[in-house]
Amino acid sequence: MFYPDEIVEEVRTRVDIVDIVSGYVKLQKKGSNYFGLCPFHNEKSPSFSVSPGKQMYYCFGCGAGGNAITFLMEYENYSFPEALEILAGKAGVTLPKEEMSKEAKAQADLKATLLAINKLAANYFYYQLKHPQGTLGYEYLKGRGLSDDTIRRFGLGFANKTGDDLYRYLRDKGYGDHILKETGLVTIEERGSHDKFWNRVMFPIMDVNNRVIGFGGRVMGDGMPKYLNSPETRLFDKSRNLYGLNYARSSKEHYMLICEGYMDVIAMHQAGFANAVASLGTAFTIQHASLIKRYTDQVILTYDSDGAGIKAALRAIPILKEAGVSAKVLNMEPYKDPDEFIKNLGADAFRDRIRGAKNSFLFEIDVLKKEFDLEDPEQKTRFFNQVAGKLLEFGEALERDNYIQAVSREHFINYEDLKRLVNTMGGRLGTGAGAGQRQKISSYQDRKKEKEDGPRKSQRLLLTWLIEEPGLFEKIKGIITPDDFKEELYHQVAVMVFEGHQKGRVDPAGILDHFIDDQEQYKTVASLFHARLTESLTGQERNKAFTETVYKVKKNSLDEASRRAADIGQLQEIIRAQSELKSLHISID
Ligand code: CTP
Ligand code: MN
Repeated sequence: MFYPDEIVEEVRTRVDIVDIVSGYVKLQKKGSNYFGLCPFHNEKSPSFSVSPGKQMYYCFGCGAGGNAITFLMEYENYSFPEALEILAGKAGVTLPKEEMSKEAKAQADLKATLLAINKLAANYFYYQLKHPQGTLGYEYLKGRGLSDDTIRRFGLGFANKTGDDLYRYLRDKGYGDHILKETGLVTIEERGSHDKFWNRVMFPIMDVNNRVIGFGGRVMGDGMPKYLNSPETRLFDKSRNLYGLNYARSSKEHYMLICEGYMDVIAMHQAGFANAVASLGTAFTIQHASLIKRYTDQVILTYDSDGAGIKAALRAIPILKEAGVSAKVLNMEPYKDPDEFIKNLGADAFRDRIRGAKNSFLFEIDVLKKEFDLEDPEQKTRFFNQVAGKLLEFGEALERDNYIQAVSREHFINYEDLKRLVNTMGGRLGTGAGAGQRQKISSYQDRKKEKEDGPRKSQRLLLTWLIEEPGLFEKIKGIITPDDFKEELYHQVAVMVFEGHQKGRVDPAGILDHFIDDQEQYKTVASLFHARLTESLTGQERNKAFTETVYKVKKNSLDEASRRAADIGQLQEIIRAQSELKSLHISID
């Protein structure tokens, strides 16, 4: 859903960010701002500020910053439209409904109907569990240590032995065969229709918005298959959903726990680890990784400690890395999975294991090591060579060295020796893999250099000055225009800041909304509005600092213009301006 700027603006101006944030963070007034403990990182003294004037928040500790909409997006992990809808509700603004094509509407209606049926089914299963006909299921779940609270929270239920009572229930509710077929809950055949799930305890699978999109059902004993799951439907795509994410997404931990199964997620949540999710026995996909990346960039893998679990972890690690998520691996020995571990050793022991979780690279080396007989000199050499080869995959020298240190420490390999081995191997691989590595190194350095060069910095500073002290617009009249901001992002901001000034009010929160789709840009712009100018400067130092900033911005702009000058007349004009600039002096106080 795309909402026009005016609507977004209207919603935002009708709510007060202090009200919104106060709902989540205890704020205290200090001067014209409010301060509190940052909800986005762990801290003991408050560096999280909310400015009623700017209608923005900013954390001096972690750099999180934004307006009322992004606060809800970050805190509640809402999408932009979701956050807007919540705020619109508070502000009493009615949002326009999008005109949908006939086809799109039919699709949406179908989905809504399927969701409604799933919800009915989930309620039906839950009801069975809580009534005499569900005693067997209820006893089973209780026997596995689940509390009534947990059963309710995860909506666990029971499918009867009868074989078609859910089907009849849904028919009674007015749903016909053709739609019921699409739910995956029933099979409809000429000879009669029956329920897919019977005589099982039921686990509804919810998406991030708490909507039931499918089910898993477990036999209450040793029958086969142990778990039966909904087929892929219009609603249920296994590779894009993680069980438990509807709760884990608003956990305050900075990482997520990834496990294999229903019971593991539930056991961890019950033990207080509300940041656990599962890929439900299916292989971890890149879609899972990107889904996680929306909430965190750190995970701890808690896959089963058997061979299959280790394999699954080894497969997931590079997929996560690709998505920009770093992984650690938790050691569950001597137990099979988190559920069994917690049942036997308890939550505190599990927390210790979380603390001791192993860096994914070191985990990979551990697994590799098992393939070799280190008593045998030849195999031992092969092992070292493979380790060195893997270490070479770190393109950045410092990072690589840190890992060489860690590996040599853990596996009792002499550090210097290992380092030499890695270096000679790197040299030998001058072409092929080595060349790839070198490319990686240089692009990393480029990025670092790119981070902030001189002209960028002065443009950023000048914007901050202008935002903080609107009186300065007077001083740069005739010297600086938005076009002098050559850095694309700063140019966009400058256009809006200058425009706002002309209209009599610069609206930082409004400007920020334009960058909502790009996290990097968003952060950069937010920091512009919150950068602190050095307050301790004397009057004269301030004059000098400001003049210098203006000078640098203008000089960079003129230099660029001279490179692009189309004719000699233009060039002369630029040269004249350049020499005039040399005598620039601005007095601001
Ligand atoms: N799974 C499945 N179908 C199966 C077996 C497993 O879909 N026949 C999925 C389930 O999501 C299950 C997960 O894979 O939760 C992990 O399987 P497994 O380790 O065998 O089961 P547990 O999670 O340990 O289940 P339980 O504790 O109930 O035995
Ligand atoms: Mn288990």
